[in-house]
Amino acid sequence: MKQEVKPYGTEKSKKEEVANMFDNIAPKYDLLNHVLSMGIDILWRKKAVRMLKPFAPKKIIDIATGTGDFALESLSLNPDKITGVDISNQMLEVGRQKMKKRGVDQRIDMVLGDSENLPFDTDTFDALTVAFGVRNFQNLEAGLKEMNRVLKPGAPAAIIEFSTPERFPMKQLYLFYFHNILPAIGKLVSKDARAYTYLPESVNAFPYGEQFVNIMKDCGFKEVSAIPLTFGIASIYFGKK
Ligand SMILES: C[S@@+](CC[C@H](N)C(=O)[O-])C[C@H]1O[C@@H](n2cnc3c(N)ncnc32)[C@H](O)[C@@H]1O
Repeated sequence: MKQEVKPYGTEKSKKEEVANMFDNIAPKYDLLNHVLSMGIDILWRKKAVRMLKPFAPKKIIDIATGTGDFALESLSLNPDKITGVDISNQMLEVGRQKMKKRGVDQRIDMVLGDSENLPFDTDTFDALTVAFGVRNFQNLEAGLKEMNRVLKPGAPAAIIEFSTPERFPMKQLYLFYFHNILPAIGKLVSKDARAYTYLPESVNAFPYGEQFVNIMKDCGFKEVSAIPLTFGIASIYFGKK
């Protein structure tokens, strides 16, 4: 990791600041997510879920679940139970309302918890998902090791995270959009001036591609690969315990 990027730059830990930031933007998160990504984030989660299908997982954990979109997408795998974990109570609360409205609150548990110290036994889950979560961890390696610990041996993990496109003109278009348009819309709608400047800054400081694959391997994952999505704007990292 190049440097620690925190949302507000106060004396508080990155974890506290991240939880506060997501508590602040929770009511507008879903709207902004889908508008700012033009709905592409939905396709990325769908693709990751398709990769889990051959494993027919019955117990799934969705790390940094936020308002639960990845958990909802994983219902298509017909699992017995999905457990979403997040450190932001407000994000979870928006998610819980969504689950209730759709009548799936019995199949998806939304649990307050820290991915770097998960409240689950070793070898518990048949599959693990995370979308746009690992970049926000205070200690990436601690989080990845915990994720590996709670998976059953051989069980898959699908991690979606932003990366940076490397080719002209996508790289230039992406950088312009990410550093100019996205923060302006984000600030206007969420009323949090930092949340959507923290986003490109944290992506810029975060490892991607081969570098992230190697970190996953160091944290105990096997057969790890990186699948670039939409010109490399994001990637799915897929590995097994
Ligand atoms: C960008 S949101 C992603 C939410 C959801 N996965 C999605 O695809 O829309 C990132 C989430 O990560 C959560 N988060 C950050 N650090 C965490 C940690 N250490 N443990 C659990 N959740 C964490 C934040 O609270 C936030 O809800």
